Amino acid sequence: MKTIDTSGLKGYSGYFKREVGEPDAELTRVGPGTPCGEWLRRSWQPICMASEVRDLPVPLRILGEDLVVFRDGSGRLGLLHKHCSHRGASLEYGIIQQCGIVCCYHGWHYDIDGKILSTPAEPTDRIRSRLVHGAYPVREVNGILFAYMGPPGDMPPMPSYDTQLIPDSQFVPFTLGITCNWLQVYENTQDPVHVVYLHTRMTGAQFGDASGAEQELDFVETPLGMMNVQTRFWKNHYWNRTTESILPNCNQGGAIWETADTTKLFQRVAFLRWMVPIDDTHTVTIGWRIFRDELDPQKIGDASRVGKQSIDFVGQTEEERSYEQRQRFPGDYEVQVSQRAIAVHANENLATSDRGVATLRRLIRNAIRAAGPVRSSTAPAKDGVIGTYCQDTVWPATANATPAKGALAEFGQRVAATILASGHQDEAGRRAGLRQMLETGYPLE
Ligand code: FES
Ligand SMILES: [Fe+2]
Repeated sequence: MKTIDTSGLKGYSGYFKREVGEPDAELTRVGPGTPCGEWLRRSWQPICMASEVRDLPVPLRILGEDLVVFRDGSGRLGLLHKHCSHRGASLEYGIIQQCGIVCCYHGWHYDIDGKILSTPAEPTDRIRSRLVHGAYPVREVNGILFAYMGPPGDMPPMPSYDTQLIPDSQFVPFTLGITCNWLQVYENTQDPVHVVYLHTRMTGAQFGDASGAEQELDFVETPLGMMNVQTRFWKNHYWNRTTESILPNCNQGGAIWETADTTKLFQRVAFLRWMVPIDDTHTVTIGWRIFRDELDPQKIGDASRVGKQSIDFVGQTEEERSYEQRQRFPGDYEVQVSQRAIAVHANENLATSDRGVATLRRLIRNAIRAAGPVRSSTAPAKDGVIGTYCQDTVWPATANATPAKGALAEFGQRVAATILASGHQDEAGRRAGLRQMLETGYPLE
């Protein structure tokens, strides 16, 4: 990748800085046969909400491939290449059968795995006996459909993360489309500095005042990918938040409006989501918004606003607000789309605040080049459930404490090390381990 050298220029130097570099193809191109596209295809990817698939086929574009998803009359899910193997008519106009789907043009009949069941306009079975239509396996998990689009022989197990099984929680599926490359949506998850600026100090607190407090940061690899470790001091409490990126393109985060003013140990996540490339310049985030009383004591969240192209916190879509409102109070959507359709790394000037972004890019590049097993297959698990590392811990300090930066950083490192070492334990065990560590070490003298 060529870097553009603009050092040493004086003011009014626009003329010398017109060049726009090429996107980093290795990390941003997702179509069939591309390095990143092949890497993403090695993992189960969410493709839509189950509620979107009713009695008609649904056209989709995922990883640059045109597809249709449908549920046949027996309730089985099919994900087929969109264009009929005969002469290419779209199967979005297909007629759903008890078993599979029939192309409306000349009646070729496909099973959910792509086998051709009949070609009624043909006198013999000659064509159907030698052809198979493109199809991918689909599974439904708690209201979201996932597909595996990689080579059949490399299909990993569908991962089951501990945060999918938190009791007393409401999991509400959502999708959010955005017109830009997947990586700039994903790498935002490892840019905790923007939480302080974009979401708090620039135009007012979008997710609560506590998130605008000065933070000590660390970035740590996990068995699943990486997490940023944010530690703040707020209302006489240490507040540690770990925000996690699970490779290749999954992310989870803590309470949206965390107040961080009461003791909390290993409070789990408010969303679990995947940034799925539609193609190189369009992305859809698909996941669950998770509701649970402890996550939102102020009752700001609203499950009725969560669904297709909609979520209950600000700045995630183009439709929710006018252009003027989005200019006056920009959010995640505005910054991600405006980095260009595909952000050009050659034109960036990465700074100390970008340590997480740089680390995530490095992990992704290394994983693409290694083409090894997906991390969820080798991560610590208990009874098949994979331990994850996203959480909030809030712990009281001694009265009127004013911890030095070093004390905040140390608190964060100790919480992170404790949760990193406990991925194989159940939630109660992990919480107990944290409590033990904190009770013996804090409040600090
Ligand atoms: S184009 Fe589909 S059956 Fe002819
Ligand atoms: Fe954000």
